Amino acid sequence: MKEVLFFILVLNVSGSIFTSHEDDDCFCQLQGQIDDCTCNVDTVDHFNNVKIYPRLRSLLQKDYFRFFKVNLFRKCPFWQDNSQCGIRYCHVEPCKENEIPKGLKEKDKEKFKENNKYLKDSLCEHEHNGGLGDINTTISDQAREDFVLWSAYDDAQDNFCILDDFDEDSSYVDLLLNPERYTGYKGASAHRIWQTIYLENCFRPNGYLNSYIQNHALNSMCLEERVFYRAISGLHTSINIHVCAKYLLRESSFKNPEGEWGPNLNEFRQKFSPETTNGQGPSWLRNLYFLYLLELRALQKALTYLVKEEFYTGNESEDWDTQLAIKDLLNIVQNFPYHFDESTMFNGHEQAQKLKLEFRQHFRNISSIMDCVGCEKCKLWGKLQIQGLGTALKILFSGKFDGSLMSEDTSKKSFQLLRTEIVALLNSIGRLSTSLYELDEFRFILR
Ligand SMILES: *[C@@H]1O[C@H](CO)[C@@H](O)[C@H](O)[C@H]1NC(C)=O
Ligand SMILES: *[C@@H]1O[C@H](CO)[C@@H](O)[C@H](O)[C@H]1NC(C)=O
Ligand SMILES: *[C@@H]1O[C@H](CO)[C@@H](O)[C@H](O)[C@H]1NC(C)=O
Repeated sequence: MKEVLFFILVLNVSGSIFTSHEDDDCFCQLQGQIDDCTCNVDTVDHFNNVKIYPRLRSLLQKDYFRFFKVNLFRKCPFWQDNSQCGIRYCHVEPCKENEIPKGLKEKDKEKFKENNKYLKDSLCEHEHNGGLGDINTTISDQAREDFVLWSAYDDAQDNFCILDDFDEDSSYVDLLLNPERYTGYKGASAHRIWQTIYLENCFRPNGYLNSYIQNHALNSMCLEERVFYRAISGLHTSINIHVCAKYLLRESSFKNPEGEWGPNLNEFRQKFSPETTNGQGPSWLRNLYFLYLLELRALQKALTYLVKEEFYTGNESEDWDTQLAIKDLLNIVQNFPYHFDESTMFNGHEQAQKLKLEFRQHFRNISSIMDCVGCEKCKLWGKLQIQGLGTALKILFSGKFDGSLMSEDTSKKSFQLLRTEIVALLNSIGRLSTSLYELDEFRFILR
């Protein structure tokens, strides 16, 4: 009896340590309106945790969404990276041939055939234009339309990312078998990635030296530049939350070969409390909410396109379930009243178009930097989430998903989203949604 009492006392004491003023700071500054948006943190928490999170969680188990095609072997274009992470938690297990749904393999074959055909056409066209002006190189309208369709992947005009989908070195990875979590990848190599992204690829106030931009400085930048920074910061935050929430608590042992994984409160505090982050932790957390709203808006904007998608994997009943599940999700998304409003961005003439171009170049560049990540697992999830965000930006800013265009007959579409883009978009929203959910659990533990 005494022992039990003692235990309760200890618990109480440690409980009060957790809820002491400074620890709650992560969260007590995290309330009210989300920067550059029209809604509150509480509204998003409720909407996500009750409505979106459970739906996405089950949707992303579907075959269509769990297999992601990725090239983990492309060379880093910016620097020599010899620091391949040898930690076994970094390892990614690609799918064996017989594990990939047959529908995905069929589609790949078709795609490669078409792609090669039109690639040849376009190369020939170049050659002719180079010298032999007398040869008729006009491609028929139909072929041109198909070409647009199949070359959507490298359409420099619209894409915010370099996609791996057509690479021969790409392979399918089962995302459910390779979950994003703590890997042990840190130190100089990991640091360099984020440094490069913040210092060389984000918009920044002139002469600003810190990687992380303080709020007052951020407010001196224009909306589009702020959006870029907040999106990157939100992604960084989200990744850190996953690592804290799925931390390696105990190494694998004979009795427990998987090891033990769970939330690490100290790591979370270290990453986000104001004391250890020069006061910036809470605004990083707010940027997560911002990014969530940005990608959610993209999903809403692509609604009329996505409800017509087949989600083909070759298994009829599975595909049917997937279609129903996505319609149910989109219905909820459609009814959310506080969507991000992208129509205020890139308005105006020359200056705005120039800014948009820069915005896209920076982002594409970041998608290439993902090839420099030295840990396979981190690279996989980094690529997936950057590609998802890139797809969201394409939907929001390419103009091709704007109202009047979308209501037209989309069966004769002059553009398309590739499967890989849809998979990346939904999975990255799933990641952000999970982060908000996990954040709520940390909030609960801290109180
Ligand atoms: C070139 O080919 C296209 C379609 O194949 C045809 O419509 C057009 O008249 C041709 N132009 C010339 C100059 O022969
Ligand atoms: C097709 O999908 C259903 C439901 O998702 C599943 O129960 C069934 O085993 C699948 N069939 C094949 C041949 O994989
Ligand atoms: C692309 O990234 C490299 C490496 O960080 C950098 O040197 C270059 O300036 C970047 N270019 C753009 C357009 O962001």
